Order: sequence, then C-alpha cells, then structure tokens
Amino acid sequence: MKEYLSLSETAEIVGKSKETLRRWDNDGVLNAVREPGSNYRVYRKTDIQLFMGELLDENFQTPVSNVVEPKKEYSVLELFAGAGGLAVGMEKAGLKCVALNEIDKWACQTLRNNRPNWNVLEGDIKNFDFKDYRNSVDVVTGGFPCQAFSYAGKKLGLNDARGTLFYEFARVVQEVQPLICIGENVRGLLSHEKGQTLEGMKSILDEIGYKVVPVEVLKAIHYRVPQKRERLFLVGIRKDINIDYQYPTPHKKVYNLKDALKKGELYNKKVPKSEGAKYPEYKKQILDLIPPKGYWRDLPLDLQKEYMGGSFYLGGGKTGMARRIGWDEPSLTLTCSPAQKQTERCHPDETRPFTVREYARIQTFPDEWEFAGSTSQQYKQIGNAVPCNLGQEVGYSVIKFLNSYYLSLSKPK
Ligand SMILES: C[S@@+](CC[C@H](N)C(=O)[O-])C[C@H]1O[C@@H](n2cnc3c(N)ncnc32)[C@H](O)[C@@H]1O
Repeated sequence: MKEYLSLSETAEIVGKSKETLRRWDNDGVLNAVREPGSNYRVYRKTDIQLFMGELLDENFQTPVSNVVEPKKEYSVLELFAGAGGLAVGMEKAGLKCVALNEIDKWACQTLRNNRPNWNVLEGDIKNFDFKDYRNSVDVVTGGFPCQAFSYAGKKLGLNDARGTLFYEFARVVQEVQPLICIGENVRGLLSHEKGQTLEGMKSILDEIGYKVVPVEVLKAIHYRVPQKRERLFLVGIRKDINIDYQYPTPHKKVYNLKDALKKGELYNKKVPKSEGAKYPEYKKQILDLIPPKGYWRDLPLDLQKEYMGGSFYLGGGKTGMARRIGWDEPSLTLTCSPAQKQTERCHPDETRPFTVREYARIQTFPDEWEFAGSTSQQYKQIGNAVPCNLGQEVGYSVIKFLNSYYLSLSKPK
C-alpha cells in the first residue's frame, strides 16, 4: 500500500462517500492532507489504519440486534422475485411468501426447486391480475428494474408511468392494498434523470394512497453481509395507518471474505466446492501480478497503460478494475457475470473468479439454496439478488411495523 491514498481510494476503504470524507475532514473526524501542487485531499495510510482500528474496536462494544418475533402470521407478495434473495431473507425473518412473480424461467425454476410449496407465478407481470390478493396480503415487495418515464415537472399520477415496470409495481400495490409496500433498487435511482424518476415514483405512490417514508440507501456491510453492496429502499405505508416504519438499525460489526468462505460466525463450515468461470489467459496473466487487496495500480506502469487502455488517462480511482479481494475485507459488489471487463473480483489466493457457491456465500444465500440453469444463468441470478441477510434485517423491520399495527387495532380507541 502506498504512503498516501486519494480521496476516492480512501472512500472505498472506509466505505463512505467522498462527500462524507470531505465533511469528516472539515469536522476533524478523519483529517486529510493537501497534495502539494494540486491541493487535492490525500490521506496518510497510517491515519486510515488508525481510524479503521478505532472503528473495529467500537464493533465489539455495542452489538446491535434487529430480531423480533412476528405476533401472528404475516404474508408477503414478492414481485420481480429473481432467484429469491429478498424472499429468502423475508422468510428467515419470519414472514410468509404467499406468491412470487418472475419472468425469467431459470429464476422461477430455482424458486420452485428450493420451495416446492411456494406459489411461483411465472411470466411477465403485465399479464397477471392480483385482485384475488386484495386486502389479504400484509406486504408487497419488488425490485422493479429502473426505467425512465416522461416527467413534465408536475406531480405524476399512475397513468404517467404506463409502460414501465414501476407502473406494474404500483398497479399491483393499488390492486392488493397491502399495509406496507417495499420497492428496492440500485443507488443510481437517486440520480436517475437528475432525481426526477424517483420523485415521480414517490408522487405516484402518494396518488395511489401510500405515504412514502424518506428513501434510504442501505449498505449491506452493515447488515451481516460480507460485501460492499448498496440497495435503495422505497417504502410506502397505506395512508389510513398511523404507525411509523423504521429502517433496521445498522450493525457495527463488518464481516469480510474470510467470514463468507470459511467456517466462522456466518457459516458453520467452509464453502462447498462448485463450478465456476475462468479468466481468459491474458486477464489471468495480469491478475497473477496483483496482490490481495490490490488492483490495476499494482501493475508495472507499462502494463497499467496496456491493460487499462483509454481508461488509464481518464482519471478517477477505478479501484474495481483488475481487483483481487483480500481475506480481511468485504468483497466489492458482485456483478451478474464474474469475469466481466472492468469489474474483476479475483479470489485472494488463486487467480480465478469466485465459484458459484462462493458467489452465493458472498450474497449470504444458504448453502442448501440451489440455482437452476447453466453456470452463467446461476451467476446472473445470484448477482441480481438482494443479499439474503439484508433481506432478513429488512424483514425484521417490517415485522416490527406489523406487530405495532395489529397491536394498535386491538387497543380500545
Ligand atoms: C433485480 S432482480 C430482483 C432480485 C430479487 N429481488 C432477489 O432478491 O433475488 C429483477 C428481476 O425482475 C425480473 N423482471 C424483469 N422484467 C420483468 C417482468 N416484465 N415481469 C416479471 N419479472 C420481471 C428480472 O428477470 C429479474 O429477475
């Protein structure tokens, strides 16, 4: 590791945004020094280590628990269910999946193979009518793929989103009238069309009778997931309900790759063997030169230029390129294909991508959860998922909300 790290590199290591780091510098939480000439903020390696050490000590002082028992059986309708990352998490928290919709035949096969009793509705959501579930489902969840819709600066109604998958999500919520609905998406939705797509979605939920809780992006590393993945949550509460929803409290303990692949607190045995993708020969030769926790900057300068091509001159950290993960850090976000250009996440000891079962562990799927289809179909299903442990923690927050709601019904007015 170099003596000084850039703002982006430090943000990556500390797991915070550059804005937070600038604020922390101003507030004296983590001080940067100015690079002579450019005057850019850079960080002393020793300062970061000291800072991370302090965080680690704090990890063990106040453990957090979001666990809560459901007071009755609560039901979930899961849309855009994929291979079931969120659904498995909800089930682990204690919620019951009454039906799941998904268009991809391999993902549906995965759901059916693992849970023969789940009602898997295979096909395009547009072709399903959910009126039979009206007033009989507590929660509707869905990771709708993000699409733009035209926005003329006015408040949007449901019909303005017609033709998009968010429209379908909102249409089902309107048909089913759950007590709470939870949309999940990528952080990029915050800035999609300069924030207007998200504003439109909030306005539509409002129009169909749901109060929108302030949107949050949850970091999976704070919810027992050994991966720096983020997920945006869009939560709506039916307007006749006067109960607050609270996001799950972040845990202080951060798990790393060792916790994912070896025996420890997350799993009681090492990761099972399985199939996996391989790197093409040239990429393998490049990655052979990278140490654990290293990336393209660890190559000799001529190879940096050769491997990065035009990107070499573009600036920015690009710390995800030609990256080898270390045992003592969380994995970077897994993508839908593990040998994909520009997002290599190489195994710490061997020069290869993570296997299917290693991928599943990093997403905190149980070892028993099997994926259907070819190896690349399996990677895709896993890479698309909400990490199960994050889903479980969100599940507890939903149970807490539902317990309070049903308790309020039984109290005399
Ligand atoms: C981000 S993934 C959801 C992942 C899932 N929540 C999980 O945790 O595993 C989005 C899913 O939406 C599905 N999808 C896309 N278009 C669809 C449509 N028109 N009808 C139903 N499902 C659709 C995709 O096949 C994909 O599996």
